[in-house]
Amino acid sequence: MDVTGPEVLIGRGCLEGEVLPARAGRRRVAVLTQPGALETATRLADRLTEGGLITGLITVPDGEAAKTMTIAETTFRELNRLGLTRHDTVLAVGGGALTDLSGFVAATYLRGIEAVYCPTTLLGAVDAAIGGKTAVNVGGKNLVGVFSHPTRVLIDIDILEALPATIRRQGMSEALKAGLIGDVELVDLLERDGLSSDLEEVVGRAVSVKTAIVEDDFRESGRRAFLNYGHTIGHAVEVVAGLSHGEAVAVGMVAAGRASTLRASFTEEDRVRTIIEGLGLPVRLDGDLDAAQVLELVWLDKKRDASGVRMVLLEAIGQPVLETADPALIDEALAAVAPPS
Ligand SMILES: NC(=O)c1ccc[n+]([C@@H]2O[C@H](COP(=O)([O-])OP(=O)(O)OC[C@H]3O[C@@H](n4cnc5c(N)ncnc54)[C@H](O)[C@@H]3O)[C@@H](O)[C@H]2O)c1
Repeated sequence: MDVTGPEVLIGRGCLEGEVLPARAGRRRVAVLTQPGALETATRLADRLTEGGLITGLITVPDGEAAKTMTIAETTFRELNRLGLTRHDTVLAVGGGALTDLSGFVAATYLRGIEAVYCPTTLLGAVDAAIGGKTAVNVGGKNLVGVFSHPTRVLIDIDILEALPATIRRQGMSEALKAGLIGDVELVDLLERDGLSSDLEEVVGRAVSVKTAIVEDDFRESGRRAFLNYGHTIGHAVEVVAGLSHGEAVAVGMVAAGRASTLRASFTEEDRVRTIIEGLGLPVRLDGDLDAAQVLELVWLDKKRDASGVRMVLLEAIGQPVLETADPALIDEALAAVAPPS
């Protein structure tokens, strides 16, 4: 397991430079990618081949369909067929689903080989590629995985700027979360400029919030749980309402805002809801929602401990606290995002 934080490089056109860190004995690289990032991955693979490395390009299914034990096994077999050894490297080029799978595969193949990430979605850049959590879904989301850092994360702002608005929005949701738990100025920026906020600044600030927390608490025994702001209810509505991760976290942050007002004297619930709306993200659920199913999932959530569900609340922007939520609080938080009747 690699517990040393990676080198995170953020810049314009940085994928045109030296992508891999120097490493003695490296001869082979498996470039793992997903359909949306195939063009970038192919370009990188070609450059690595030109540079003298034996390179294989592996495209896995899109989105969550990649995060399965079956795809992990297919990928292990492919790495073995390519002859990757402990001196070699997995280069992950894609969004959060792709880096989660690639990190898991790299951390377990031959008991762990080097991983390098090039996140190509905003959500990947500000969140999934940072912090060393890797996972596949087995029954529950992210149920099987390991903590393991890549050696380098390369974030090319030019690639992020070219993203379609829907994908940009997803990432803005996690960027706002980073601001809410640790960077007042990032919240101000997103409030002022919305979806057109300067991505270099958004990514730099969000990555700083996350790396500072993770350096302090890699295995989530304390502060790292703050990164789950909006996720307790968010994860449940992601499953029940079929929202994307970023949208579900947006709704989850509105619900957590209500819980924060009720239990932590938070005074900026309305402001945060307006910022979320300004980013084009949902602030309530549409259609029929099976509230009982949401509650059941919240209760099953792996963040539950013996005394109840642990939920992150805000005392103020930039000041998160961890609370044990009782069923009444979850009900009230959910009511804040329930479909209009
Ligand atoms: N490990 C962590 O700490 C962590 C944190 C947050 C989220 N996650 C995980 O991240 C995943 C969500 O991340 P995501 O939203 O990036 O999902 P994703 O990887 O599914 O990517 C979203 C979509 O964007 C496409 N895409 C990728 N790069 C593109 C590009 N440059 N241009 C156009 N399309 C592109 C993909 O093909 C996909 O269809 C979830 O599985 C979630 O569990 C992990």
